[in-house]
Amino acid sequence: MSVSSLGYLGLSVSDTGAWTRFACDVLGLMPAAEEGKLRIDSREWRIALHEGSEDDIAYAGFEVASPRALDDLEAKLASAGRPVKRGDDALCKERGVAQLVVTEDPGGLAVELFCGQMDRGNVPFASPVGVTGFHTGDQGLGHIVLAAPEIDAVRSFYVDLLGFRLSDHISMGPVVLEFYHCNPRHHTIALLPAPLPKRMHHMMLEVERFDDVGFAHDRCQEAGVPISTTLGKHTNDQMVSFYVKTPSGFDLEYGFGGIAVDDATWSIGRYDKTSIWGHKPG
Ligand SMILES: [Fe+2]
Repeated sequence: MSVSSLGYLGLSVSDTGAWTRFACDVLGLMPAAEEGKLRIDSREWRIALHEGSEDDIAYAGFEVASPRALDDLEAKLASAGRPVKRGDDALCKERGVAQLVVTEDPGGLAVELFCGQMDRGNVPFASPVGVTGFHTGDQGLGHIVLAAPEIDAVRSFYVDLLGFRLSDHISMGPVVLEFYHCNPRHHTIALLPAPLPKRMHHMMLEVERFDDVGFAHDRCQEAGVPISTTLGKHTNDQMVSFYVKTPSGFDLEYGFGGIAVDDATWSIGRYDKTSIWGHKPG
């Protein structure tokens, strides 16, 4: 039993106005019907901006295939001693999902497991700046890379309880990054076993067309948004991407062309570089 994808993200941000402008005018996300929520596809929303001082990830919502699968995961978490709480009607309505279980990873991040997120296919995704589309579907909204100084406990939570599978490792000197998948997306989460100022190292959104990476890069430069790393291609997922600094200070990777993992044939890789080329300090 495994979660099926990263369904949504909640961010605690100190300047929701700046974030909304960055997300919509620079990255090309679409404002959702409800203020403070953002769309990247037909789902009612994928990213929620909550006013707060943390400027960090507030919660991660992982989709589960069915109510039965949610029951099974809830039981597994409870028997492993993790805190579990059923989301009440108000929380399910706020998240736009049929059912929800709230837990916490051993690093203290709120993790929500849900099924049945509202779809708004009747109001097609339309990027305000013309992004053709974001790559979601069975690969979910993208990926997140989290600081995980308590690596053994955090790894065990995602692998043994939520069902993530190892994709590969990248050694960065003494620090070994671990990349995990729960669907064909090469990694939905990666764990960086070191303390960082924020739990969120970066989040990644993937577009359907390479030109949309270039157009976004142009918009970042025109808007004066700091580019954290130049365009580059990653060794492991082969994503061609660049990184920008979000108004919250953590990075957002904007990419195209990540490879898909097939569990039937996949064997784990090992690298000592994050990038084949590029991804230099911006
Ligand atoms: Fe990434």
